[in-house]
Amino acid sequence: MIDKIASIKEEVNGYQADTPAKVEEFRLKYLSKKGALSALMDAFRTVPSDQKRELGQKLNELKTFVTERYNYLKENASLSGSFDSASIDLTRSATSFPVGSRHPISIVKNDILRIFADMGFTIAEGPEIEDDWHVFSSLNFPADHPARDMQDTFFISRNPIDILLRTHTSSVQTRTMEKNQPPIRIVCPGRVYRNEAISARAHCFFHQIEGLYIDKNVSFADLRQVLLNFAQQMFGAETKIRLRPSYFPFTEPSAEMDISCDICGGKGCAFCKETGWVEILGCGMVDPNVLKSCGIDPEIYSGYAFGLGIERITNLKYKVKDLRMFSENDVRFLAEFESAR
Ligand code: PHE
Repeated sequence: MIDKIASIKEEVNGYQADTPAKVEEFRLKYLSKKGALSALMDAFRTVPSDQKRELGQKLNELKTFVTERYNYLKENASLSGSFDSASIDLTRSATSFPVGSRHPISIVKNDILRIFADMGFTIAEGPEIEDDWHVFSSLNFPADHPARDMQDTFFISRNPIDILLRTHTSSVQTRTMEKNQPPIRIVCPGRVYRNEAISARAHCFFHQIEGLYIDKNVSFADLRQVLLNFAQQMFGAETKIRLRPSYFPFTEPSAEMDISCDICGGKGCAFCKETGWVEILGCGMVDPNVLKSCGIDPEIYSGYAFGLGIERITNLKYKVKDLRMFSENDVRFLAEFESAR
């Protein structure tokens, strides 16, 4: 048996196989169920037990040696590119690789940013971990405003100053105003966090785009026209908008904007709760206190700001009923959007 092992080893060592067919021959001859190694294993069963230890070790070494030789030959045969055309069906279609698709939130984010870029807005980004000043104080939030409460905000530390996960991307507006003098015309996309129970209609994080325009003589009419243009490009040329008075600490006057429901065309349906309108964003003229706290003179400059949730716009466009779908990353769900375009 020792001799047999040695002779196989020698044979294998010099074995040449430069085509896949020859490599397969090698495999059949040595490694298959009817091959030389199998035969040795069978013979090993009848070996007297005092020789088993030594022979077993030799056999194992041989097995490793043959397998390594086989892998080497296989790799070389495929590398050399020479193949036996009889063993390969060249008419077979290639295996297709599934191609990933863009996330619906990214698709809609890019659409929105493109619309505002066409109107002269540039993109500004900022950190998700923020301090109290940039998220609240600079934006005219009263000290006891509920948004600062533990209920809404994820605090990271409270000493010596509050460090938190931003609850809106208005913080990027503050950062931009602190560093630049007007004219400023930016849109700020990004992820924001709020301490809410996760359900089909709410999540503890979502995505926003906020816009800011500061210059001389900026008026509410400018704001309205920019938002109308956005709504019509996003939801179709027939879309109407409506501004309702509202309240935000950082804008005065403030408004919420509705668009005409694109399901019923404004006639009233279950989706718009029979009102014909659906709310899509908050906006207003930047409060003079905010300009002041960022080092901009409110006697010279004025401006508007607006903010929208990307998930909300995506829901309106694609009628996704459950917000959780956006973060579950089920590829069957994600793949639907690339084809929807
Ligand atoms: N920051 C507000 C929010 O998160 C949105 C907003 C931005 C409203 C700008 C008015 C002006 O809800």
